[in-house]
Amino acid sequence: MKSVLFSRFFILLPWILIVIIMLDVDTRRPAPPLTPRPYSSPYAGGRGGARTPLRRGTPGRNTEPRNESRPPQPPPEPLLPTIYAITPTYSRPVQKAELTRLANTLRQVAQLHWILVEDAAARSELVSRLLARAGLPSTHLHVPTPRRYKRPGLPRATEQRNAGLAWLRQRHRHGRAQPGVLFFADDDNTYSLELFQEMRTTRKVSVWPVGLVGGRRYERPLVENGKVVGWYTGWRADRPFAIDMAGFAVSLQVILSNPKAVFKRRGSQPGMQESDFLKQITTVEELEPKANNCTKVLVWHTRTEKVNLANEPKYRLDTVNIEV
Ligand code: UGA
Ligand code: MN
Repeated sequence: MKSVLFSRFFILLPWILIVIIMLDVDTRRPAPPLTPRPYSSPYAGGRGGARTPLRRGTPGRNTEPRNESRPPQPPPEPLLPTIYAITPTYSRPVQKAELTRLANTLRQVAQLHWILVEDAAARSELVSRLLARAGLPSTHLHVPTPRRYKRPGLPRATEQRNAGLAWLRQRHRHGRAQPGVLFFADDDNTYSLELFQEMRTTRKVSVWPVGLVGGRRYERPLVENGKVVGWYTGWRADRPFAIDMAGFAVSLQVILSNPKAVFKRRGSQPGMQESDFLKQITTVEELEPKANNCTKVLVWHTRTEKVNLANEPKYRLDTVNIEV
């Protein structure tokens, strides 16, 4: 009886050991990270989508000893110019929807800093919360448009864009400016990710077509031999720069070396803000055409339909207060 028990035990022993070893190996595998890795965009501007670590190669106390047989590390990639996107925004029923859509686009662009400027006397909770969760570097400013300028037919967002410009100049007041590009991104337009790749290489002022604007399917700068020679537009063709706010970008260096260039209230009409601003910093001959010599539409001047709130109760009827 004893010998039978012994022999069974010795037959089972190796199997028990194998199971124990396998369980042990499995639990030693690193657990998947709880927080998702930062999204690497395929449009990250020539870096193959990989984000460069902040510091690399500096041997610290915890770094493993250098293994000389390893192939040498590639040289650090050149610094991508930062894209600063200035977005004026104001409170209305569709505001959160517009900003959510825009944040979802901008989040995918590498090295982008979002400057959101509220047309309001104070920063709102709605926008603050949205920005905190937007997942990209940002700055939250506010300035109210004076009541006398809040009339149909007058230019919009003048004070807000100027506040963004002032912030940018203040931030870079010391020393040589890091490479950067400024772009005015209204909250209701539609932006392709390719547009950001195009504007990233702006040397002074770059331009490109804008879709669904000026009463036509698109407007565009006319290009001959790599130079802008005129404008294809259906609206006020006499404008010095017949281009929408979404149709150009300016290098940070140009913004800093023209400290007085701002959007003007006095004498400015709707549709002329772009020309009035660009006149202060560049000439038509100097413009750099992007988007395949201005033959590709990468941004659309979409406008959101006014929502129907005809059945919205005057006083709250729901039991909870819901942010929309
Ligand atoms: C066109 C141009 O595309 C705008 O860049 C230009 O500012 C505007 O005309 C103008 O007339 O000044 P449009 O679609 O008519 O655009 O203007 P909106 O999209 O209504 O406003 C442009 C930006 O200003 C938006 O980001 C919007 O949120 C903001 N805005 C508008 C304010 O901050 N406050 C307002 O009272 C109105
Ligand atoms: Mn708009």
